[in-house]
Amino acid sequence: MKPIRKAVFPVAGLGTRFLPATKSVPKEMLPLIDKPLIQYAVDEAKAAGIEEFIFITSSGKSALENYFSSMPALEQSLADKGKVDILDALQASALPGGSACFIRQDQPLGLGHAVSLARNAVGDAPFAVILPDDVIWANTPALAQMVDCAAHTDRHMIATQAVAEESLSSYGVVDIARSAGAVQKLRGLVEKPAAGTAPSRYGIVGRYVLQPSVFDRLDELTPGAGGEIQLTDAIAADLGSVGVDGYAFDGRRFDCGSVRGYLEATVAFAQDRPELDGVFDTPSGLLHKVA
Ligand code: G1P
Repeated sequence: MKPIRKAVFPVAGLGTRFLPATKSVPKEMLPLIDKPLIQYAVDEAKAAGIEEFIFITSSGKSALENYFSSMPALEQSLADKGKVDILDALQASALPGGSACFIRQDQPLGLGHAVSLARNAVGDAPFAVILPDDVIWANTPALAQMVDCAAHTDRHMIATQAVAEESLSSYGVVDIARSAGAVQKLRGLVEKPAAGTAPSRYGIVGRYVLQPSVFDRLDELTPGAGGEIQLTDAIAADLGSVGVDGYAFDGRRFDCGSVRGYLEATVAFAQDRPELDGVFDTPSGLLHKVA
C-alpha cells in the first residue's frame, strides 16, 4: 500500500454544546490545559508520519487558520528574553511551511460531505481522517497504531471502542464478523442506530485510514442519519469491494465534543503534568467552602 502522508481534519462544526464560548472561539481552539484541541489532533497525526494537513473549515473559524500561521516576531522576542521553554513549545506546535491547507465547507451537510471536499487535496492515495473532538490518550498514539497495521492492507480501517449500551445511538456502530487481536473484520456498519438495534457494542471513534475509493462512494450518497451525508454510509458502501476493518485501539478516548468529556480530559491530562501535581486533589464543593 502507498504510505499515508495526508490527513483530513473536519473542523467546520458549530460547537453548539459549548455556547456561549463558541460564539467567537472555534470549539477546536478550546484549550486542554494549555494546548487547543486541534493541537492534540495535529500532534497525533505528526506522530503517525502525516506530512500534509487538510482542514475543512467553515465561516467563523479564522482563529484556526491564524493559529497555524508562524509568528516570527513573537519567536524572536521570546528568544531575546531567553524564554527557551516557551519558545520550544511554540515551535513544537508549528506546522512546516506549505504543509497546511484550508478548504471551506459552505453548508453544514454532514461529515461525509466535509470529507468529500478534500478529494483534490488528497488525490489518489490512502489518507487519514481525524475528528479533533475525540482526544485519545495512548502510549502509542492511536493513529500511529492504525497506520502501522493499515500498511499491510488495502482496506478501509476505522477506530472502534466499546461504548455503553445506552450511548450507542450517538455513534456509528460496527457489525463484527470476526476479530483477530485489535483487528475486526466487519460485515456492516451503521450510523446512529435506533435504540436497541445496534449490531454490536463497538462504536466508531474519530480516526480513519481510508482508501481513495471512498470519494466515489461519497459522491453517490443520498443523505442518511440526521439528513446528513454520512462518512459511515460511504465506507459501508465499500464493504463488498474494498473491505473494511475495525481497529480496537489501545488507549483512552475522551469525547471533547461534550462538556463532561472535555472536563474529564482536562482533569486526566492535568494529573499527568508534574507541575500541576495536587491541583485536582481538592475536596469537591471547594467553591462553596470559599464562599
Ligand atoms: C461522528 C461519526 C460517528 C462516530 C463519531 C465519533 O459522529 O459520524 O460515526 O461514531 O463521530 O465521535 P458525530 O459525533 O459527529 O455525530
